[in-house]
Amino acid sequence: MCGIVGYIGPRDAAPILMDGLSRLEYRGYDSAGIALVTNNGEMFVEKKAGKLSNLRTALNESTPLAAVGLAHTRWATHGRPNDLNAHPQIDCTGEITVIHNGIIENFRELRQGLAERGHTLRSETDTEAIAHLVEETYEGDIGDAVRRALERVHGAYAIAVLHKREPGRLVGARMNVPLIVGLGNGENFIASDVAAVLCHTDRVQFLEEGDVVDIDADTVHITSVEGNDRMRPVHTIDWSVEAAEKGGYSHFMLKEMHEQPHALRSSITGRVLDDRIDLPELAPLRDHLEKVERVEFVACGSANYASAVGSYLFQSWTGLPTRNNIGSEFRYSPPPLDEHTLVIAVSQSGETADTIAPTRLARSIGSPVIAVTNAVGSAITREADAVVFLQAGPEIAVVATKTFVTQVTTLVLLAAAVAKLRGRLSAERERELITALRRLPDDAARALELTVGPSQELARRYVNSRGFMFVGRGVGFPVALEGALKLKEVSYVHAEGQAAGELKHGPISLLDAEVPLVAIMTRSSLKEKLISNVMEGRARDARVLAVATEGDEAVRDYADDVLWVPDTLEELSPVLAVIPLQLFAYHTAVARGTDVDQPRNLAKSVTVE
Ligand code: G6P
Repeated sequence: MCGIVGYIGPRDAAPILMDGLSRLEYRGYDSAGIALVTNNGEMFVEKKAGKLSNLRTALNESTPLAAVGLAHTRWATHGRPNDLNAHPQIDCTGEITVIHNGIIENFRELRQGLAERGHTLRSETDTEAIAHLVEETYEGDIGDAVRRALERVHGAYAIAVLHKREPGRLVGARMNVPLIVGLGNGENFIASDVAAVLCHTDRVQFLEEGDVVDIDADTVHITSVEGNDRMRPVHTIDWSVEAAEKGGYSHFMLKEMHEQPHALRSSITGRVLDDRIDLPELAPLRDHLEKVERVEFVACGSANYASAVGSYLFQSWTGLPTRNNIGSEFRYSPPPLDEHTLVIAVSQSGETADTIAPTRLARSIGSPVIAVTNAVGSAITREADAVVFLQAGPEIAVVATKTFVTQVTTLVLLAAAVAKLRGRLSAERERELITALRRLPDDAARALELTVGPSQELARRYVNSRGFMFVGRGVGFPVALEGALKLKEVSYVHAEGQAAGELKHGPISLLDAEVPLVAIMTRSSLKEKLISNVMEGRARDARVLAVATEGDEAVRDYADDVLWVPDTLEELSPVLAVIPLQLFAYHTAVARGTDVDQPRNLAKSVTVE
């Protein structure tokens, strides 16, 4: 997820663009850049790796006056966060600059074709391909050129494009990634979201999929990629600037929970194709993966619970003995490590010391290592033989929400890819997974829709409980652990996650009328057994709050309250079942007045052991 801002009008563009970027920095902050067509008709470009302050320092030297420009704050998906890969990306002539948020799925083919046709590509980015495509399609009208170039592009994008020879125009386009137009008086803006423009105007148009927008200082012209006119209503925004950064949500945690459908879509983009699941990132390890004899997961916190789901699937799909390890314990009782032991390290931030140390140890012994992380350029990427990125966009709230669901989904892809490579995934099973994975973003949106109101209502009703017992079986067990962790982290209420079958071996003594049982009762092969465990708790006066599959009315016989989620494959059910539990934790925290986005004693990334 990156931040885009563009300006055209009578004022000096650079300060407006830099202010816009600072308001978008929460969207990504590993590099930043700016392009201006100066009042002397020159294309001025400056870009710098690191935080926005680095770009600001570079610009302090001398920033030319300009009435049009675009600027970008990057959150890397393709290519390391360095000066060269920072946006704007530039074509061969140096006359066209492009900034982009999203992922171009066919960028390998595009880059290869461009190179064969004589273009010099300088960066490792997918974005640079767009700049060169526009160069090829340009015949004197930048709007037409962008439309023609986009016909060749597949994937998700919001872009802004500037041509030195047409300083009176700025062109943008959107496909599955947000882009808005800000309407000023005698000036106009393009931006990733309203936060970037709100201090200049409260009138905005939200672009929709496939829109191309062509703006000058006075007019806004929206068309489809084919060039047909489109009309978008003008909205008046009444958010504060701070609320705008949170997209109008009261907390980043709430915003990020609502971003889950989008994050899931982005995670599967380019990986779940019509006819196959494909993780090209595994190519360097192909030979190793065929010979692997054991799999060891290593992770901490929420990532460790996502890994628990992953290890369950790896074992059942690949047939390889698989274990899930807590990062901080790994080195002190290490599993047998050799070149036949695949280590999968999962870390949202890629900086957690407790996860990095075991990864380094495993690699030093010769075990192949796959890192699964959300942060391009993070420490863990340097410790791994292959890296699979979550592509979930930056997560600002300390507690993990969208990165948990994308971790689980990415590990499903990884397990399927390794099983396939080893000849253990039937074509029918792969097709079934493809269908379910493609539906998953919409299913997650439905899970939010179904539970956003009821979870708030239940949180209010249960807020004075003495504690909570979360239970599940199979892949529902890590969901119980994650549900309990979310509640503990943000509301400071004691909660335990247990394998439902273990309840009777001890934890059941905690249950009474003031300690509810939260049961993960979504459709599964173990549901009958889970029901018996829930009944044991109910017999001890515990109230039962169930997460269940939409339409499974029989659950009402065992539960006092139910939060419904859509049906999906059992292996993917953790992605949906966790959503109402995140919401429940959030609303409990709000009801108790805690600091939701920065809970006491916690840090987003813990870089000490
Ligand atoms: C910290 C955070 C947790 C997170 C854990 C692992 O403790 O507070 O929310 O799950 O680190 O973080 P990682 O970045 O490695 O996934």
